[in-house]
Amino acid sequence: ASEILHDVERQTCGCYFSTSSQRSGQFHSDPLDAVKDIPNGATILVGGFGLCGIPENLINSLLKTGVKSLTAVSNNAGVDDFGLGLLLRTKQIKRMISSYVGENVEFERQYLSGELEVELTPQGTLAERIRAGGAGVPAFFTATGYGTLIQEGGSPIKYKKDGTIAIASEPREVREFNGRHYIMEKSITGDFALVKAWKADKAGNVIFRKTARNFNQPMCKAAKITIVEVEEIVDVGTFAAEDIHIPSIYVHRIVKGDSFEKRIERRTVNKGQAENPKPKKDSDIVRERIIRRAALEFEDGMYANLGIGIPMLASNFIKPDITVHLQSENGILGLGPYPTEEEVDPDLINAGKETVTVLPGAAYFSSDDSFAMIRGGHINLTMLGAMQVSKNGDLANWMIPGKMVKGMGGAMDLVASAGTKVVVTMEHSAKVGVII
Ligand SMILES: *[C@@H]1O[C@H](CO)[C@@H](O)[C@H](O)[C@H]1NC(C)=O
Repeated sequence: ASEILHDVERQTCGCYFSTSSQRSGQFHSDPLDAVKDIPNGATILVGGFGLCGIPENLINSLLKTGVKSLTAVSNNAGVDDFGLGLLLRTKQIKRMISSYVGENVEFERQYLSGELEVELTPQGTLAERIRAGGAGVPAFFTATGYGTLIQEGGSPIKYKKDGTIAIASEPREVREFNGRHYIMEKSITGDFALVKAWKADKAGNVIFRKTARNFNQPMCKAAKITIVEVEEIVDVGTFAAEDIHIPSIYVHRIVKGDSFEKRIERRTVNKGQAENPKPKKDSDIVRERIIRRAALEFEDGMYANLGIGIPMLASNFIKPDITVHLQSENGILGLGPYPTEEEVDPDLINAGKETVTVLPGAAYFSSDDSFAMIRGGHINLTMLGAMQVSKNGDLANWMIPGKMVKGMGGAMDLVASAGTKVVVTMEHSAKVGVII
């Protein structure tokens, strides 16, 4: 296990690494070595979106150290048998700060049965709380969550065994700026950040690949000790200085992972036109009417964010003579169609965790950048699904208290953005015979 750089490298890179100082980069060859001092009760920031760009080797090493009572800040909690889901299964996590529980059955079960504390935070607020933490900003105001349980407080963080609330969220301070209401959100910092990057150079500078950047970039800056696992360590000078995503000042430990599974949550491929399309059911005809109507909202030159399901399908009906730029909140502008089998790339997914492609001229960015784009009103149109919509246009889409919890993901930020047109696509009644 080589802990430090050799003298010759120290000379060529003009930098100095030492094992004694925590402020200098250390190279570890064993991920267990890099995490073994994480103590019980620590707050860890864990990068990744879904299973994309998660620090697999560092998470697996925490299974070995057996550290307990962790507070884990991570957009998601992996799946039942991969990523952070593994540490939930072993009960090593006391509290999750996340935006989305999604389809992780064990995560939802532990929360609803009172075994796990969960602070559900809108995705853009989560990204900005971490960004602010790294930038030394203790709190900020956002329109996201105003007029919801997030602002009012009382949202369940922990349930008792009998289903009543043991720990409830705090109400947020409200302020008015230029006639709009905003709520105060406090920044997040961690004791340790566990980050997955693509490559590091021997000076400790880091770059990410495609949509595997996500929360990894802001998290690098927001912890006392940032531990980065990479696929490759390269010589100084390999990256041009202007192409570096994270300068070495934020990086304390680097590990080259032995292997990466890079599991894909939703492998979605473009199969082309089916030769014998199935006959349409009544429900398909209803859906197609909604999709075609929604697609009429697209205008030439728009930037649009589309939720999974009906909204995404609406993009198939964009008129051929107009250009619409699709944004995906995990960090893409210029989303393309689903990939062919050969093009499938685990580092390139959309916000629905489906494998995708990008069009020429596309750009990748981090989660904090993505929600700056959204919150800043730069997106013209957002289309999303919902569970219920009131006649005032309020929408319910992330939990049935005590029964079901999915999390709001990025939806609350998308609908709170001034200047963004919001289109909700849904069928009028969820179940046949039920009239709402
Ligand atoms: C999209 O939004 C931008 C920024 O608000 C605005 O300048 C532009 O005109 C909008 N474009 C369309 C097609 O609505």
